Amino acid sequence: MTKQISTQSPTVAVYGATGHTGGYILGELRRRAFTPILVGRNADRLRAAAEAAGLPDAEIRVADLNDHAALVAAFTGADVVISGLAAFIDFGEAVLAAAIAAGAHYTDTSGEQNFLRKVLNDYNTRAEAAGVTVVSGITDNNLSGDLLAYLTTRRVQGPAELVISHLSLSGGHGSKGSAKTVLANLDSFRDGGFHYENGEFRTGPATRYTEMVFPGAAAPTAVGKFPQSSVLTIPRHSDVSYVAGALDATILGHLSGFTAEAIEAMPDTPDSDLRYYLIVDTYGADGAVVRGLLSGVDSYRDSAIMAVEVAARLGTGVAKPGALAPAEAFDPEDFLNALAPHGITFGIGEAPARA
Ligand SMILES: NC(=O)c1ccc[n+]([C@@H]2O[C@H](COP(=O)([O-])OP(=O)(O)OC[C@H]3O[C@@H](n4cnc5c(N)ncnc54)[C@H](OP(=O)(O)O)[C@@H]3O)[C@@H](O)[C@H]2O)c1
Repeated sequence: MTKQISTQSPTVAVYGATGHTGGYILGELRRRAFTPILVGRNADRLRAAAEAAGLPDAEIRVADLNDHAALVAAFTGADVVISGLAAFIDFGEAVLAAAIAAGAHYTDTSGEQNFLRKVLNDYNTRAEAAGVTVVSGITDNNLSGDLLAYLTTRRVQGPAELVISHLSLSGGHGSKGSAKTVLANLDSFRDGGFHYENGEFRTGPATRYTEMVFPGAAAPTAVGKFPQSSVLTIPRHSDVSYVAGALDATILGHLSGFTAEAIEAMPDTPDSDLRYYLIVDTYGADGAVVRGLLSGVDSYRDSAIMAVEVAARLGTGVAKPGALAPAEAFDPEDFLNALAPHGITFGIGEAPARA
């Protein structure tokens, strides 16, 4: 049975509220006049985060990740839980399990393919039994890739081949939280994780697309296989024979070389220019080639806005229970249109010829 809450102004518990993305999540909850509950391991840091977000009276609940009962108590009464932890593969399951046990819908800002695979494989039955919806992996990369792919694959004859890439316009550095996430998933970033080919998810090289023509570029750029999380969700709702993530090979080489020492030496805050494109190149079985393109302002701010939009929609009870892809839970075009007032825009047009 679906959890019936159907509220236009949900109560949203945020784990990871003290982080960089967490600050944006709180700001967006405040703007939308949703009721926040800040949950984390340190009351002083949570209070400071609430004040910094202009929410001095927000409720604070302290719960460590290794205390399931405290987490369940902290999430009880929330309509939706948003998790903004770093390194979900190491720390993320405790919040997810407790949210389901507390009867709250769940979303998060994980950018980790390995964590999403676990969520989809191991938590669907539990979420269904609890009557709650879990939509994990809400970032500028994953949500946009999943929703755009739903739309582009319907413009060509299937089964389609898809290549998905993220392009940072400034090439600037991200947050320390992102760097810790890369370090916790280093094997996956080095070997490219999973791609989808002929009905199964495969590790190892994805060799069909080794170059892409990025927006604004005249010549192709060499790309390597990248563990995009939407690779795991797109085959659930779209007619595809091949889906792979790709990243500029130079940036991929940089990520693959991350060390704990390098992260400590990073500046505390990310680069101020974090504009980006998310690209979904779609090759139909009929030879048609379509590019889905989303243009965003700041990866962290935008991921927070997207996660709060997910929470808002889950709060209305529109989605069925279970662990779902974004396009299984929400109307893709309607969701993407809702981001436009934030300067996050999308379009679907012709793609450059296959590089
Ligand atoms: N495109 C993308 O893939 C994308 C975009 C945006 C965000 N993200 C993801 O969003 C997440 C947040 O990123 P961020 O930059 O905001 O990270 P951050 O600033 O480091 O924040 C991490 C948060 O997690 C909490 N936390 C970390 N370890 C914890 C532990 N062991 N127990 C309890 N709380 C813990 C921290 O709380 P304390 O104050 O208690 O340390 C903090 O609130 C990352 O997983 C990042 O990869 C991904």
